[in-house]
Amino acid sequence: MSISFDPRNLLASMVGEENGLTQAELEASKAAALTALQGFRQQWEAGKYGFPDLPGNKKLIQEIEATAKKLAGSYDTVCVIGIGGSALGCWAVDCAMRGPHPVQGEHSSKKPRLVILDNVDPDFLNHALESMSPKKTLVVVIAKSGSTAETMGGFLVVREWLTNGIGKKAPSRIIAVTSEGRGDLKVLATKEGYTTFHIPENVGGRFSVLSAVGLVPAALIGVNIKKLCRGAAEMTEAAWSDNLDTNIALSSALHHWLIWTRKKKSIQVAFPYSNFLWGTAFWFRQLWAESLGKAKDRTGAIVHVGQTPVAALGTTDQHSQVQLYMEGPNDKVYSFWVVEKARKQVKIPKAKLGLDGFDYLGGQTMGKLLDAERRATEAALASSGRPNCTFTLERVDEEHLGAFFQMMEFETAFMGELLNIDAFDQEGVELGKKFTYALMGRSGWDEFKERFAAYEKKRG
Ligand code: PA5
Repeated sequence: MSISFDPRNLLASMVGEENGLTQAELEASKAAALTALQGFRQQWEAGKYGFPDLPGNKKLIQEIEATAKKLAGSYDTVCVIGIGGSALGCWAVDCAMRGPHPVQGEHSSKKPRLVILDNVDPDFLNHALESMSPKKTLVVVIAKSGSTAETMGGFLVVREWLTNGIGKKAPSRIIAVTSEGRGDLKVLATKEGYTTFHIPENVGGRFSVLSAVGLVPAALIGVNIKKLCRGAAEMTEAAWSDNLDTNIALSSALHHWLIWTRKKKSIQVAFPYSNFLWGTAFWFRQLWAESLGKAKDRTGAIVHVGQTPVAALGTTDQHSQVQLYMEGPNDKVYSFWVVEKARKQVKIPKAKLGLDGFDYLGGQTMGKLLDAERRATEAALASSGRPNCTFTLERVDEEHLGAFFQMMEFETAFMGELLNIDAFDQEGVELGKKFTYALMGRSGWDEFKERFAAYEKKRG
């Protein structure tokens, strides 16, 4: 497994002192990075945070594999109902391993597909249900809280659809992934006898891709979850090292922290040059936004900190976003994601048309063109004083994907320490959830019904 981080275009020597880091700045901040590492390690040792342990959970991996083996051949679709951290991880895995959706190809009981219901848009739900057969669908409902309105509502619809289709067998075709000791989903799963996997309390949604949340759907669509976890375990070992040359999670956290806070780059563009990593860019967007966008620091002081993550796809978005990136406000840092080896290269035919716009490309590969486009964009941005860095994955396979997930989770945790905020809570989404409960008539939420009424009155 090989993942590297190249920060050279974050340096002042490349993008100027106003936008880039000097060696002196980096040297002076190394101690802060090591303090962040120790701070996070202490909390992990105290059992507060559990994502670093996930790749080592061999018992869980075996149990999930056994379940997948038992059910293999009996379905052609895995329908996941979940949202946020309970959906984005399995989408990222699906997109990376089976391909982005328009080019996934036919699905069958040998090559089951994933349908992720992570929204309650009625048109989306109806179309999804029409595309699936209840006899050939396995349902996986995922909610750590066991009560998220979108997931509970979506599940009720799918549960009825399944029961109408296959009657009493429905519970045997449902898998629940939820908390062990709380939530109404757990109560229902126990009552109706669903196969159930649990999410550890110390693993939050957006850090849960390597728990049953991501591993169950992954195993059911044929992804090798052992390899996924093997890559993540290798990265975990590297992430506990105090050697900044080998610990890319810590090194990248340090570079990004300085660029963000000292050079005022309040937006980070995750820029994969790989359609297969597009789902991972959306997974990263949630991880970075929800973990690092906070009102208060750990002392309780109001800080309103956050770096807005944006996903852009290379080369496609060169023709959509790069004009802004080159000439708009210099408030962004760009993280290019590169895949060194394509699964299969595409050679451009030598057409010899006598037309220069075609002929110079003949005989070269699409991989070379992709690489040239990305290097050209990096150089153009650097020449305009726009800091950028590059993560290179040798290939997109289970091991690299698992390692990349784990690298970004550690980077996020270290960033939380550097900013002195709690990267693991999400108070900011709670108020909206409470208003929704009140608007949908859930009992016990009268206070929020009144607050919402006051808001509407104020609006006039
Ligand atoms: O990262 C998080 O904690 C959130 O994005 C949750 O994953 C999301 O709100 C869904 O929560 P639940 O799994 O309880 O339905």
